[in-house]
Order: sequence, then C-alpha cells, then structure tokens
Amino acid sequence: MNRGRVFSGARPTGRQHLGNYLGAIQNYVSLQEAYECIYCIVDIHALTTLEDTDRLQENIHEMMLDWLAAGLDPQKSILFVQSDVPEVMELYTLLGMLTPLGWLTRVPTFKEKARMQPHNINYGLVGYPVLMTADIALYRADTIPVGEDQLPHLELAREIMRRFNHLFGETFPEPRAKLTQFPLVLGLDGARKMSKSYNNYIELAASPEETLKRVMTAVTDPARRYRSDPGRPEVCNVYSLHHFFTAPRLDEIASQCRAAEIGCVDCKKLLAQGINAALEPFRHRRAELAARPQHVVEVLNDGARRAQAIAAQTLAEVKERMGLMPGAAR
Ligand code: TRP
Repeated sequence: MNRGRVFSGARPTGRQHLGNYLGAIQNYVSLQEAYECIYCIVDIHALTTLEDTDRLQENIHEMMLDWLAAGLDPQKSILFVQSDVPEVMELYTLLGMLTPLGWLTRVPTFKEKARMQPHNINYGLVGYPVLMTADIALYRADTIPVGEDQLPHLELAREIMRRFNHLFGETFPEPRAKLTQFPLVLGLDGARKMSKSYNNYIELAASPEETLKRVMTAVTDPARRYRSDPGRPEVCNVYSLHHFFTAPRLDEIASQCRAAEIGCVDCKKLLAQGINAALEPFRHRRAELAARPQHVVEVLNDGARRAQAIAAQTLAEVKERMGLMPGAAR
C-alpha cells in the first residue's frame, strides 16, 4: 500500500465514452488500491478552447456521474474541480516566471491547437502546460497516469519543477508518467481515436437501444462488400472492440467471420450485446447517482476542501522560497 501520490486531470467533456473508460477511467479506478489518488476535472484548461465551455457545469456534473458510477470512490480518492482550488492559478503565475517561452511554443499540442484555431491563439493556450505543471506541483504528485499524447507536457512539467528545485531548493518530487496498458481505442469510423470531437463514440451511459444503433454505424472491413465475402477480423475495428467486451467468444467470432458464417450485421449485434451486458451494472449505478444530484455536489465540495488543505501548504512554501511574503504578514 501507498506507493506514492497519483494526480491526474481530465477536461470536462461531459458524458464519457468507451475510449475514456478503457483508456483512462479504468486505470484511475485500479490505482486507488495502491496509491493516494487525486483526480481533477480541469475546467480552467477547458477555457483555452472556448467552444468547450458553453455547457461547462452540466459537463462537469455528467462526467462526475460517470466517474463515480465507474468506481472512483470519494472515500479513497480526492475528486474535485480545478477552479474550486484557486491556489493553482497563483502557482501557475509563479511557475510561468521560470518557463522560457521557447519551451512552450515548441510543444506539439500547442502547434496543433494553433493550427486548429488560428482565430484564437490565446495566451492561455501557450501556458496550458504550465497550468498542468501547477496542478501536479501543487499536490506534489509523483505518479501521473496519462495517455501518450500528454508525454511532452509531462516532460515540460519535469523541466519546470527541476528548475524550481535548482533555483529555490528541493520542493517538488519529480513526476513520472504512468501509461495505460491499453492500446489506442479507435472510434466507430475505424480510422481515428474514439473522441467526442469526431462523433465516433459510444457513451457509457447510452441506453441499450442507442448502443445498438451506434454500433450499427461502425465501419468494418471495407473489402467485405457482400454477406458471402469472407471477412478479415485483423483489419476490422468492430472485431478489435470485441476484444474488450466478448473476449471468451473471440476465436469463434473470428473464424465465423473468416468463413462468412456470420455477416457484419450479426457481428455488430453480438458486440452491442456484449457492451450492454458489460455496462449493465455501471448504468444501474449511474441512474441511482443521477437521481441524487446533491450527492455529486457534496462529493465535489468535500474533494475541494481536502485538496485545498494540501494546496495552501505547498503555495505558502513556494512563495516563501521565492522571496514573497506568504499570507498577509506585512
Ligand atoms: N492536459 C491534460 C489533457 O488535456 C489534462 C490535465 C490537466 C492533466 N492537468 C493535468 C493531466 C495534470 C495530468 C496531470 O488531457
């Protein structure tokens, strides 16, 4: 027990999908057993891309329902919303003084965002990884579960904290990435990562009927044009999703597909059944939680209180080391 402190943040994207679950949430849940975990919904980061923010509060609520129903446990972990602990913005400003601009403009995600929203290359977008560094530093976390796309940010976080430690004395442990075991989960288009922005996802909280409807739109082996054509499971994304939900029947499904004993429609129906069966307990718990909206509010308030106790201490120490006067001591 207690191998260290985990921190991870996720943007408030509302209802979570299968990709979020397999790629992140499942991992968050299992880390609770061996680490002290802090999980944060990063609403301030979301403000860097304004189109994400029109339903911010609703998205935070829906996402928390999914987290709780999936097994994130407020008895074991601190679950909170980033802006509820405003100390992070102070630390963000202070760490910004140690961050060369060149480090930030070289970050691949910055370049990509700048390409995607040339009309809104704002200062916050450049500072995105510094805010992420402040998240990690504020809670002195050493273990950071993230996807591969976040590794450049984490490298930067390490550089900034190293620089702080060097200039002002040992304050922050060096955070290490903890990558998930799972390979990338592709969306229903079979081409891109499952994501809200590509509309190629299945929500965890979808009804069984809606799940079936979405699965039916999935792209399969493009070379299989007729029901009588043999299929190639190794190039079919529906088959790769079967790995997660119908594992005991995997070999059977593959050979039936290759022999054209089942068609893609049959195969999709099997997948939808598998997903619906696997998610039934989750969906049941989620419906119970959704009937008590006040409970989510209480969890988040309690999480913010516990997070703030840690944050206030770190920030006071940082300010003192940097030569500022912590508190109103003047
Ligand atoms: N940048 C992360 C993302 O876009 C979210 C994030 C914010 C985060 N702060 C963090 C992840 C701290 C890990 C640790 O997905």
